[in-house]
Amino acid sequence: MFDTHQTKTLQELTTYLLKGRHASPARLREVLRFHEYRYYILNTPLISDSEYDMLYKQLEKIEKDDPSNIPPNSPTQHVGKGLIKDFPKVDHLVPMLSLENSYNAEDLLDFDRKVRELSGLNEVTYCVEPKFDGASISLIYENDLFIRGASRGDGVVGDEITANIKQIRNVPLSATFHNYGIQQIEIRGEVLMNKKNFKVYNDTLIEEGVPPLANPRNAAAGSLRIKDTAEVSRRKLEAFLYHVSYYTIGENYKKTNVPATHSAMLEMLWELGFRSPKQEMKLISGIDNVIEYVQEFEHTRDELPYEIDGMVIKVNELKLQDQLGMTSHHPRWAIAFKFKARQGTSKLLDVEFQVGRTGAVTPVAKITPVQVGGVTVSSISIHNEEYIREKELMLGDTILIERSGDVIPQIVKSFPELRNGAEKEIRFPKDCPICGNVLYKPKEDAVWRCINLACPAHIVEGIIHFISKDAMNIRSFGEANVWKFYDLGLLKDIPGIYTLPFDRIMELEGFGQRSVTNLQEAIENSKKQPLHRLIYALGIRYVGETTAKTLANAVDHLMDLASYSIEQLKDLEDVGEKVAGSVYEFFHNSDNLHLLNKLEKLGVQFSNEKREGPLGGNFSGQTFLFTGTLMVMKRSEAEELVEKNGGKIAGSVSSKLNYLVAGRGAGSKLEKAKKIPGIRIISEEVFLKMLET
Ligand code: IVH
Repeated sequence: MFDTHQTKTLQELTTYLLKGRHASPARLREVLRFHEYRYYILNTPLISDSEYDMLYKQLEKIEKDDPSNIPPNSPTQHVGKGLIKDFPKVDHLVPMLSLENSYNAEDLLDFDRKVRELSGLNEVTYCVEPKFDGASISLIYENDLFIRGASRGDGVVGDEITANIKQIRNVPLSATFHNYGIQQIEIRGEVLMNKKNFKVYNDTLIEEGVPPLANPRNAAAGSLRIKDTAEVSRRKLEAFLYHVSYYTIGENYKKTNVPATHSAMLEMLWELGFRSPKQEMKLISGIDNVIEYVQEFEHTRDELPYEIDGMVIKVNELKLQDQLGMTSHHPRWAIAFKFKARQGTSKLLDVEFQVGRTGAVTPVAKITPVQVGGVTVSSISIHNEEYIREKELMLGDTILIERSGDVIPQIVKSFPELRNGAEKEIRFPKDCPICGNVLYKPKEDAVWRCINLACPAHIVEGIIHFISKDAMNIRSFGEANVWKFYDLGLLKDIPGIYTLPFDRIMELEGFGQRSVTNLQEAIENSKKQPLHRLIYALGIRYVGETTAKTLANAVDHLMDLASYSIEQLKDLEDVGEKVAGSVYEFFHNSDNLHLLNKLEKLGVQFSNEKREGPLGGNFSGQTFLFTGTLMVMKRSEAEELVEKNGGKIAGSVSSKLNYLVAGRGAGSKLEKAKKIPGIRIISEEVFLKMLET
């Protein structure tokens, strides 16, 4: 919709306007439309919400001063336009308006004053809830069935994304609305990726050499536009439903008891199986108490498992909401209180190149230290060459940094318009900064690698990964000691961890009897770590913690994996071509086999101890396999229950399998199981019943 040239011009104009300068109302409208398009359609905003609000308010003021000249398509008069083409378009039953933003106590006092003036009340009761930072959706249920899901789009017309919404585990496919007398209902909410899942998702992207996403909001919005529903399911999205925008009463239903307050609506949604903010909401009378509450809440923001960017304050009485009505842009009965942006500007001073355990060379930006959301950031990973090009980064550039929650900081963009000519190009090294070997980049890859297996960075980073918390968890070791022991020639490779010369370590500065005994004990204990930790610790490419668990579940002994074919590996849950190929290669490389042999001889446990459940349990002697998405519990929880009850988890569909528990969206495994007589295919419900008996 906007070409590169227009984008550049409009972005320059934005910077100009944000400095407090003025442009004609027509230009200002164009700028606002451009940013609405970037925000709502492309999901890649170029300015922050507060910057957008500043521009929006500039236009509002101009139009207020001269109301005779407002074109009907002014951004103040409608809810944006322009949509991506891929999904069918659907009309929202009620336009999806956004909320007015507030940033301080004064704004809230102002909002409350208007509400009181219009309603004639002395004091108003508000329902205060988190402002979820994700992608907004609307869900329609008819006769108790989920029939349509849509994204916000331009607020009037959205994308029909029913199939994707069905992949979100906490969105019920049916709910007993008839108990309330409701026949058709439209519910609004937000799709999120929680902080933990976002981290896992970004880690996979990084592992694949793809630049990670700046925040969970982009991840959620992007996920809803994917055409592959299995991939959407894998993203582990969640939906919070916070608003009933429309409903009709069924003529034949005996009773009608639709709630009369917003908080009771949230309770109703909760009762019907939706994740509404029932637990998070708070009813507060009087704006002073609201102000105190939202300001306090900001301090606890980081403790939540998901990202929020503020609080929403809503008039609780629905009748009063109706009475207050809405402007063309937002309801008069609600306001958003935005928290401090977790963004800051800084200067890109230098770029260092680090070599990881896979030999990947990662550029790390050194920046002028800047406080972002209470943390000082002075260096940021900038992933790869393409990322540097995409973000148009140059040494000396002014950059915008974002840090969402406990997620690693990211560079959102640079400001080329602020350059003074002294900026320098970032040059990627041709040789490994650690060992000097020539770097290599396969065509299909995004990262340059040092492929010298003897490169100290490879070895040391591999050892650091092996001992790390989520892998073999050898406490009291530490990264610095790994480098120290390596430099002194006391540690040469992973098996060397188990033959460390403690007598020599004892003589080193900073090491006493106690620290050496602790280290010795920690190393000894690590030998008995469960198999999935060992598999993860080996640092096989594309094998994260989840895949490591899948692989461990499939075998009785680590070396069983060496006899798996690529096809057999692909039969395992969530193992695709790439992962299968990587695991196969790992177990067919003689150096790796040599290393594994050494580890086993040194006493590291290769057998899968956890697989033997209690004898005589409910499921004793039975093997289970879960496929598709489960509704009531996570797959890992279900597997644990099987094991607790004496059963085993199978790695793949074969004649040895007793039960295949097929969840939503089950695919190839279900088809395969149908062809094998003897496998009982059951639903999650039946599985839960089996647990009870
Ligand atoms: S109520 C008619 N409640 O914030 C108003 N919105 O700019 C319906 N949001 O578009 C919105 N958390 O996507 C509401 N607890 C919450 C929310 C919330 C996040 C989003 C929503 C909306 C935007 C406002």
